Amino acid sequence: MRGLVLSGSVHPTSSVRKAAEYAAEALREAGAEVDLVDLGELGLPLHDGRVEQLHHAEVLAWVTRAQRAEAHVWVSPEFHSSFSGAMKNALDYLWSDHLQGKLVALIGVVGGAMGAVNTLNALRLVARSMGAWVLPSQLSLTSAECKQGLSDDNRERLRRLAAEIVRIAPRLLEVSEQSPVE
Ligand SMILES: Cc1cc2nc3c(=O)[nH]c(=O)nc-3n(C[C@H](O)[C@H](O)[C@H](O)COP(=O)(O)O)c2cc1C
Repeated sequence: MRGLVLSGSVHPTSSVRKAAEYAAEALREAGAEVDLVDLGELGLPLHDGRVEQLHHAEVLAWVTRAQRAEAHVWVSPEFHSSFSGAMKNALDYLWSDHLQGKLVALIGVVGGAMGAVNTLNALRLVARSMGAWVLPSQLSLTSAECKQGLSDDNRERLRRLAAEIVRIAPRLLEVSEQSPVE
């Protein structure tokens, strides 16, 4: 199973990147091949809706990596009760051609104590609109915990999330090939 983990922050010392590394490690331990995409390293131009932008080298690289993966894990910071602008920009380059029938799992990273539920719900809507199956299980982490190291409970939640992805994603792809999502 080829998994892609998307780190949706461009911060140079990002806690979201740390969360993405934990997710990548958990997926590898569950048996997946993992491609970790860091938006801070990709340097995507701001999407203005023109198709010519799809020929831009960085855009092509991102879209190819996204398409190659059989399941995605999107990891985003919460910015004002939603996901980051960098994340939205990257996702706007994708269409159902790249995500149809694939599993997308979500992780939100917050500074505060309220949890990332708004970010997770907003991302769920975007993934659904591109024909992806969004995993019901999701994870909310604090940036402090991401930097200091995950608690045993969250490490276990992440382990279970990764195991679900590896178990379910290939089956969803098989089913979706027979009956494409409208
Ligand atoms: C513009 C901005 C808005 C933020 N809004 C929220 C918020 O609504 N709720 C929250 O819990 N944390 C909020 N935070 C804190 C970030 O979610 C948190 O620090 C996050 O982990 C940052 O990720 P990074 O380390 O990759 O930059 C905000 C931070 C910024 C810069």
